[in-house]
Amino acid sequence: MTGPVRQTMYTHGYSDSVLASHRQRTAENSAGYLLPHLNKSMHLLDVGSGAATITTGFVPLVASVTALELKKEALDLTRQEAQRNGVEMDFALGDVHALPFADNTFDAVHVHQVLQHVADPILALKEMRRVVKPGGVVAARESDYEVFAWFPEDPLLSEWRQLYLDISRSNGGHPDAGRRLLYWAMVAGFTDIEPSAMSWCFATQPTRDYWGGMWERRILDSSIAEQARSRGVSQQKLEDISQAWARWKDTPYGWFMVPHAAILAYK
Ligand SMILES: C[S@@+](CC[C@H](N)C(=O)[O-])C[C@H]1O[C@@H](n2cnc3c(N)ncnc32)[C@H](O)[C@@H]1O
Repeated sequence: MTGPVRQTMYTHGYSDSVLASHRQRTAENSAGYLLPHLNKSMHLLDVGSGAATITTGFVPLVASVTALELKKEALDLTRQEAQRNGVEMDFALGDVHALPFADNTFDAVHVHQVLQHVADPILALKEMRRVVKPGGVVAARESDYEVFAWFPEDPLLSEWRQLYLDISRSNGGHPDAGRRLLYWAMVAGFTDIEPSAMSWCFATQPTRDYWGGMWERRILDSSIAEQARSRGVSQQKLEDISQAWARWKDTPYGWFMVPHAAILAYK
């Protein structure tokens, strides 16, 4: 293990509105850049598995999957998703800053939308590099909230983004993680890295209903809502932001883009 265990507050928490969003994720739609590199002989670690709809998608593609989560509450969500899907995997409690595995244990280590929430992403990547075998791959994908883009413009949605950035940073997070991923991996010791970028696009009525409807609820009822209130943001302001999301959702030309950066880093 390397360095001390560090903790940040996980900004999103595990409320229903958050989990409903994370459960839209699949191995295909969120880890497509890694899938061609997996095979049935590989042992894969998924760090920060959470709602685990991505994690369960790896199971048929590899020899074994180990899911790691920071807290029992989150690991229980992973267990429930594995049970729902009737798939076998191993479960581990631990912190990505000090992974509870020997050096050179896994063929692939996957991490999705986790590094933006941790205190020291470089130490996290060093740890993932330590536990992957020589020739193995660490696959990481992170979004970049600073460059989320939408139309039509609405000052309340700009306030929403600023609120999120402020809360994430005050929790020790890195909401612009995407653009930093390559740099972090290089400092962590990787020399063979394939970078790429992709995006989610919400611009059809069903996708606007999902993304806009999720934030319409999440800004009122989630860990972010509680943190906003504790920073002195009024209930009226949160309701105004929620209504702005409802208006955006119902705009027939409403458009929203969430950019992601990804790396495949080989040891
Ligand atoms: C945004 S969720 C992503 C979950 C899943 N990877 C996905 O994309 O659906 C971030 C997850 O990282 C976990 N997490 C946060 N800090 C962590 C740490 N230091 N070590 C391991 N997991 C952590 C949280 O508990 C949470 O489940």
